[in-house]
Amino acid sequence: METVIVIFGGSGDLTTRKLIPALYNNFKKKRLPGSVRIIGISRTPMSDDVFRGKMNEAVRAIAPAEYDAAAWGEFAGSLSYREGDLEQASTYADLARGIGPAAVDCLYYLATAPRFYPIIIARLAEANLMKEAPGGAYRRIIFEKPFGRDLATARALNEDIHRLLNEDQVFRIDHYLGKETVQNLLMLRFGNAIFEPLWNRNQVDHVQITVAETVGVERRAGYYDTAGVLRDMFQNHLLQLLTLVAMEPPAVVDANSLRNEKVKVLTALREIPPEYSHRYTVRGQYAGYVSEEGVNPRSVTETYAALEVYIDNWRWQGIPFYLRSGKKLGEKCSEIIVQFRRPPTQIFDVQAGVTELFTNHLSICIQPDEGLHLRFIAKVPDQGMHTRPADMEFHYRDSFGNDAIPEAYERLLLDALQGDASLFTRGDEIELAWRFIDGVRGGWESGDGAPLETYGQGTWGPAGGDALLAHEGRWWKHDCSPHPAAPGKGGETHR
Ligand code: BG6
Repeated sequence: METVIVIFGGSGDLTTRKLIPALYNNFKKKRLPGSVRIIGISRTPMSDDVFRGKMNEAVRAIAPAEYDAAAWGEFAGSLSYREGDLEQASTYADLARGIGPAAVDCLYYLATAPRFYPIIIARLAEANLMKEAPGGAYRRIIFEKPFGRDLATARALNEDIHRLLNEDQVFRIDHYLGKETVQNLLMLRFGNAIFEPLWNRNQVDHVQITVAETVGVERRAGYYDTAGVLRDMFQNHLLQLLTLVAMEPPAVVDANSLRNEKVKVLTALREIPPEYSHRYTVRGQYAGYVSEEGVNPRSVTETYAALEVYIDNWRWQGIPFYLRSGKKLGEKCSEIIVQFRRPPTQIFDVQAGVTELFTNHLSICIQPDEGLHLRFIAKVPDQGMHTRPADMEFHYRDSFGNDAIPEAYERLLLDALQGDASLFTRGDEIELAWRFIDGVRGGWESGDGAPLETYGQGTWGPAGGDALLAHEGRWWKHDCSPHPAAPGKGGETHR
């Protein structure tokens, strides 16, 4: 049966930079269904040829060395473009004619501004483009983020969706779940027996999750200034990483079992009431943010946040999880650090005051330099019982080659085509995440919450970020290097 992929927002940035390149790569790897058509729809007038040319330029710019003109030629034959107003019924009637009367599988990708989501699904349904026949052609929809801007709007959108679609037709995307290293977290935890016995409150001192970016608000001020980092990064990416680190092993690896376990973590996530906002949350804005194009000069939108959170269940009770993310920070890096407890007594010589030498941690480097580092103590040769920290390191590029890691969207698009929603967020999961985020925002908006601190561009955020950990004599760690590890690397970078 033929498959038709319809991208609403076909002339947009996401389509050009991510979706078409990901579909092209899947095509080159012969992973797309045998017979496929890809239709872009947007308001911008454009011919099929101009659309193909624009997409071709993007694909060549992203990975010039991997561009294969013959493969592109074949792939481009499946691309077409339709101009249309997303609010008008005629756009959908026209699309229905384009798809034709034969039974075809349809995957709709909503890469538009979120305010169009309810109208697009309603119009698709009116045009009879949403109905699945039992055992027949499928109808699936991928929703780009942001999915709502708080619990109330996310819930309303879920209600709109559920009036027209079953949950198994719905794919709410969080591109972090498509990253190889994020998926490997499950493999690491549940495919190996050695970590799981350590993965709990008895052995773990705390966990740090950092998603740092060097870019600023770029050309997205219109969206970002009304969102802020809490909505843009925490509600989805950071909380997703948290659930994967903290969840229980599912009985089987299928979409529902995995997502049930993630929901349990979010249910156990302790809310931060406004009176604790000062103690457990930090918010910052980079210097110069309000002068960026499109930003309100009086904006109090946060571009950095750090939270200390707790999961009230048997495994994690009392163990802090520190989460931080921000723009215009010193380095682009996403990493998770599981810090283990110290040995109960120190029997070896420790350099004065450097007790940290005697702790172990596991760093999960999500990007760049994807891999794992296990920090342990080694004896310095020929120097009595002097010790030094050393790392056992695994780098994807060493084991699997430089090009081993595909773009997250490649995997996610394939999964949606195959009907596997494991790496997509379920409706209840999104609502629980928003409930938590709304609580933090409530504290900040109460007027009595954590103050908005300014931080310098290129730093690691405001002073409050460090103070959050310093309360308990801890500090942020940063192990994953943006460059290949230098031979003999083993020192600890505090940050
Ligand atoms: C997006 C956010 O979801 O993730 C952006 O909207 C952010 O603000 C981006 O820059 C980061 O993704 P990645 O894959 O570069 O870490």
